[in-house]
Amino acid sequence: MKRVTFAKIPAEGAGPRIRELMDRGVVDRHAKISKDGTYRYVPILPQHVDEVSSEGYEMSEGEAHTLDRRSPQERIREMLSDHPDIVDILPDHWEFVGDIVILKMDPRCRPYRDIIGETYARVLGAKTVCADVRGVTGEFRQPSMELLYGSDTESVRLENGIRYGFDVTKVMYASGNTDERMRMRRLDCSGETVVDMFAGIGYFTLPLAKFSGARRVFACEKNPDSYQFLVRNVRDNGVSDVVIPILGDNRDLRGRAFADRILMGYVQTTADFLPAALRMIKPNGIIHYHDTFYISEYRERIESIFSENCGEGGYEVLGIREVKSFAPAVSHYVADVRITPSHSRNKQ
Ligand SMILES: C[S@@+](CC[C@H](N)C(=O)[O-])C[C@H]1O[C@@H](n2cnc3c(N)ncnc32)[C@H](O)[C@@H]1O
Repeated sequence: MKRVTFAKIPAEGAGPRIRELMDRGVVDRHAKISKDGTYRYVPILPQHVDEVSSEGYEMSEGEAHTLDRRSPQERIREMLSDHPDIVDILPDHWEFVGDIVILKMDPRCRPYRDIIGETYARVLGAKTVCADVRGVTGEFRQPSMELLYGSDTESVRLENGIRYGFDVTKVMYASGNTDERMRMRRLDCSGETVVDMFAGIGYFTLPLAKFSGARRVFACEKNPDSYQFLVRNVRDNGVSDVVIPILGDNRDLRGRAFADRILMGYVQTTADFLPAALRMIKPNGIIHYHDTFYISEYRERIESIFSENCGEGGYEVLGIREVKSFAPAVSHYVADVRITPSHSRNKQ
């Protein structure tokens, strides 16, 4: 192993001194900075050792711990190079949920799942590795995960000032909806009563409740697993005074014309739930209506869904955003729709 000379820097206040040495170009960037309880050991390039030691730094010699500058993908391939039948089809992408790694795996890799799980865990520093087998399915949008390594499948995802705790094997998390979660955080809902009809673990409820100024958010979720995390996340994000979690089917929510705003964060069968939303919304209230449409016809389809349910003049589409691509030629959209007093009058 290569030997280098280190500048020994007392741990307290070491940061600015290390940065200063780095800025001057005297640090050997191929070796690691190491530490013990008292010192940081900064490797110095041989031609600068005299200069640095003359500045009063205590110096010591030792073995260099070299930095591995290869990408994680390269390191994984090398560690699995004894298995030529899978080395070219190993997953190159993964997603972190806290300290859990989720990857999509070619079915031909399945016989090697244990060694693959262990290798990814070691290289990526993960406590658990799961393979996403079939995406999300069913009414509850449940994931289908295979555990490759580890046992703890619960973690916390930190996003835009929110802690989303959940079990990756029980509950979905749509990473493609980040912009929409961010938009919920930026809304001005001062004093409003909001209903989140498809709350999940609090995807939209939590940023809205924490940052938008809403007075009250009724967060309805039908899946008991998701509901359990919703309750915990409401508490852990300090919004218990704003959010009321409700376990059940949103069509059973009681009450008429009490909501200033309704979130319908569900796709594909969203229109089935619109009558319940129209019953709960106040005159001039806003519905954030999510659904998937062919990109060639999303505007007409949204207009036709609302004109069928509210009648002409019963609604106004304020804006439509693409949330994410969903399938070839199909996208997930959200429409912000104001329900006019004329629709509300017709309903009396
Ligand atoms: C997973 S979320 C959709 C995605 C989410 N908006 C996001 O940003 O990731 C949809 C949730 O609605 C729940 N759900 C489905 N039907 C429901 C119903 N009738 N009433 C209440 N919740 C329902 C599902 O269990 C699921 O947790």
